[in-house]
Amino acid sequence: MNFPSRLGAALLGLATAAAIGCGSSPAADAPEATGPVVHLVPVPQSIDIFPGALRLSDAVKLESDAAAPHARRALEEALAGSGIGIDDAATTRIRLQLTDDTALGEEGYHLVVADDVQLSARTDVGLLHAVQSLRQLLPAQPQPGYRLPRVAITDAPAYPWRGLSLDVARSFLSVGYLEKTIDRMAFFKLNRLHLHLTDDQGWRIEIGRYPKLTQIGGASAVEGGRSGHYTQAQLRHLVAYAQARGITIVPEIDLPGHVQAALASYNELACDDVENLSPYSGREVGFSVLCLDKPEVVYPFVRHVLEEVLAIFPSREIHIGGDEIEHPLYADFVARAAAMVQGMGRTPIVWEEGSVADTSPDVVLQLWNDNYDIAPAVEEGHPLILSPCSYFYVDHGNYAGQSQTYDWCREEGVPLARLYAFDPAAFGTAIGIEAALWTELVHTDAAADNRLWPRLAASAELAWSPAERRSYEGFRQRMGALRPHMDALGIGYHPEPDLGWADAGARTVPQGAPAGPSSD
Ligand code: ACM
Repeated sequence: MNFPSRLGAALLGLATAAAIGCGSSPAADAPEATGPVVHLVPVPQSIDIFPGALRLSDAVKLESDAAAPHARRALEEALAGSGIGIDDAATTRIRLQLTDDTALGEEGYHLVVADDVQLSARTDVGLLHAVQSLRQLLPAQPQPGYRLPRVAITDAPAYPWRGLSLDVARSFLSVGYLEKTIDRMAFFKLNRLHLHLTDDQGWRIEIGRYPKLTQIGGASAVEGGRSGHYTQAQLRHLVAYAQARGITIVPEIDLPGHVQAALASYNELACDDVENLSPYSGREVGFSVLCLDKPEVVYPFVRHVLEEVLAIFPSREIHIGGDEIEHPLYADFVARAAAMVQGMGRTPIVWEEGSVADTSPDVVLQLWNDNYDIAPAVEEGHPLILSPCSYFYVDHGNYAGQSQTYDWCREEGVPLARLYAFDPAAFGTAIGIEAALWTELVHTDAAADNRLWPRLAASAELAWSPAERRSYEGFRQRMGALRPHMDALGIGYHPEPDLGWADAGARTVPQGAPAGPSSD
């Protein structure tokens, strides 16, 4: 089905109102072929839909709180994308307002479309989310005389951590691609971009004190992948770019294993008996480790690297890896490295295996194996980021047998419906959800887009929307309708049949636009 057809859109309006359900008014505009539709992802906490519509002319008057510069920029961008200008003489007003409504928390917002449009929140970030909801209500392409549905939305996230982890170490992703990904994440109210900056196949972050880490360690990649590194100036730029869009970048330096690129750069970090100290481009894991028997070498290195990392990234949480290594001194290392991060005023994140270390209960653990016994750590009170691989490892196929995908965690891949069925409430100390894209088999931007979308939108809804508001049927309809927005964002999404996107050739954007589904 080609959703953007008028009849399709009208039907969708009806279906969406039904899908939004839970006390919402019916979409009074739906029977009109030209009536507006309401299709928001993530589905908001509460939405009332009123009769009639606000007809938008070519321009609107914008009023905004000076303390919300990021939301203002985002709104200007959203209006420009819909072909709507800004004019102080315009009759329709859009107002961005900071309020002291504590019930909204740090990220919540109100959005009311009546005779004008009012967005309010306690913070610039809350207003950014309000703007993204408005953007989803606006047309993806200029549409003169567009009729905006009259709605009253009150919204706030279920979980504070709504993330994406990108492995830029196995195969490098450019600054430009990360910027695009940040824009797309913001559209779905995701708020954490975790960069897996180091691994066996590559070291991607410039460290002034250890230049060979990028000279040698940055020059390698997984076979078929891309090498490269980010300068500190580029990373600072990305931090600011993300911050302006409500997203915190969380750096990961993976220690004490997954370090072949570091060992190849500085051989003294290895034990004397290590035979192979050359760069690595294979796909094995668990074979490299810092020489934990040389604490006088290893810990100063770790400290110096972390000092430079923390100077670039202001995030409260700093990821120190800790996965897939067996060593008698492993638990001791994790405890010492975590204490080091805490001593620097930040909160460490460690992959689940780090739960064996003696750390304080505020150390965050990231769950990645479905069957890992995380219950004792939950009992101790460790906050959890949920990334169980059979739901959130999107390097696995969109469908069983998809080429260039892993299946070690789940042979059938991780289809959209599977991911959406995850229940975060089963984990008592969960602070949120993070999908992960590992790049051993993902070597192009097109492949990354294909693996990320639309599954990342489903992950965003799980982390933002309360359980009683979610349903896969509703998600399918709302997300299906957002296809023109996905195209306008230039996303090479997987042509997901569940969303009615299987007609991979039927683009919804004008010829020449940098969009369209990618089927690889
Ligand atoms: C992991 O997948 N090794 C965290």
